[in-house]
Amino acid sequence: MTSTPVDLSHHLSVEARLRKPNAMKQIWRLARRKPNMISLANGDPHSSLYPIQSMTFSVASVAEKDPVATWRAGGSSAPTHSITSSRDEAPVLPVRTAFQYTTGAGLLDTQEAVTELTRFYHNPPDHIATLTLGNGDGVTKCFRLLGSPGDHFLADEFTFSALANAAVPHGIKWVSVRIDEGGLIPEELEKIMENWPEERGPKPHVLYTVPCGQNPTGSTLTVERRKKIYELARRYDLLIVEDDPYYYLQYVSKASSEEAASVPTGSESSLSPRGLAPSFLSLDVDGRVLRVDSFSKVFAPGMRLGFITSSPFFHAHLVALTDSSTQHPHAFGQLFLTELLGPAGWTLAGFDAWVRSLRDEYQRRRDLFLNIFEREVAPLGLVRASVPEAGMFVWTQINVERHPRFRREGGGAEGPCTNCRQLMEELFEVCLDNGLVVMPAWVFALPTDPKYDGPENSIEDRMHYFRLTFAGTEEAMESGLKVFGQSLKEFFADKPKAVEN
Ligand SMILES: Cc1ncc(COP(=O)(O)O)c(C=O)c1O
Repeated sequence: MTSTPVDLSHHLSVEARLRKPNAMKQIWRLARRKPNMISLANGDPHSSLYPIQSMTFSVASVAEKDPVATWRAGGSSAPTHSITSSRDEAPVLPVRTAFQYTTGAGLLDTQEAVTELTRFYHNPPDHIATLTLGNGDGVTKCFRLLGSPGDHFLADEFTFSALANAAVPHGIKWVSVRIDEGGLIPEELEKIMENWPEERGPKPHVLYTVPCGQNPTGSTLTVERRKKIYELARRYDLLIVEDDPYYYLQYVSKASSEEAASVPTGSESSLSPRGLAPSFLSLDVDGRVLRVDSFSKVFAPGMRLGFITSSPFFHAHLVALTDSSTQHPHAFGQLFLTELLGPAGWTLAGFDAWVRSLRDEYQRRRDLFLNIFEREVAPLGLVRASVPEAGMFVWTQINVERHPRFRREGGGAEGPCTNCRQLMEELFEVCLDNGLVVMPAWVFALPTDPKYDGPENSIEDRMHYFRLTFAGTEEAMESGLKVFGQSLKEFFADKPKAVEN
């Protein structure tokens, strides 16, 4: 795919415009101008003083047909693959190189490794990688890069609040977009942009979205919706911050495997060549997508490593932010990742084998969860579970209207029109009393504005959801869903509690 550069510099935040590049890092870059440059410039500890002789990683072998199943079944005797990087020698990154200072983009070899990864799955034109400490870091950096006080950003009405909250102290105001089981509804996004009232302030210019296995709803955008949303982004000059930690955990549905199988060689499938939904990044011809990737869900959350893929323009500003704050991520993770993806490690093909096998494992867990749900909870007729096509979450919808104390109150100018929220708080308490913790919808809800959204559309009236996960153990699913069913029964029976003496 080719791209036409579009000037998107007007999207930069006041903070990003005011920031000067780190002058010392600029001099530091000049040290690379010639080989064997003598440096009396930087106070870099000499590599002979690093107290690390070598680092050896013993990781799961990916030579087996189903590496994750073999790894789990084998316990401490499961087949492993060993990679060693010593002080002066390594397949790719010796310790002495990995542990030096580098630019905010990360070590060159690591940048190359993740760029290859992105090319393999997304093949975007003219994009460049900036290493991060995971998607929490990546997304919040994007917010700081693009958001000034008074700006409006768009997001799904239920969204990953840990990060949405991070935008608020920068003066960014959220505008929620209505969703359904398929995630963000493009027509709702269009309605907001088309009918934006001038007196509300500047028009939104950033969309934050989680396209696969959305947190909390578990929804995944169809290819058609992705294309529509990207076209709307072009029409209304929106940037898209694509937070996609669950990309590799896209489950194989009957429809997707039939589609992949039915595409004749040489013709186009709506899925990417890897059988995964095309990311916004892969559709991006203008450089308006900042894609945020993480290794938390495919390796381990403690990796604290990820990367942003963006146009070179936004990359330069992300590097300036990083150069003057956290600096590049830790060498431990960068070295591990570079060697793992390199010729002596798993290589890209091995990584692909691992993530496919991991996806199968999570899909097995999802199916188990849904089977238990069908047995223990669904027959009550009080709650419905959506079937996630990716990720780790099941969004359950409580049939709150069946509760004896459910009220439709007509609503005032401020909304809400029902007592949905209050009843859900009570149900949450019943679950807690019975020893079960679930994630209530209000944790993820972006507030609606009665003035612009209308009191009849208050998010408070759509709080009848709980997020449950199948990422845990089978025992947790079995016993947790039993308690969930009992709690629902108890709550809907609405018997006054016996007073304890
Ligand atoms: C949508 C979403 N974004 C970001 C994160 C944070 O990811 P990381 O561990 O890479 O910081 C999570 C973690 O649960 C998530 O669900």
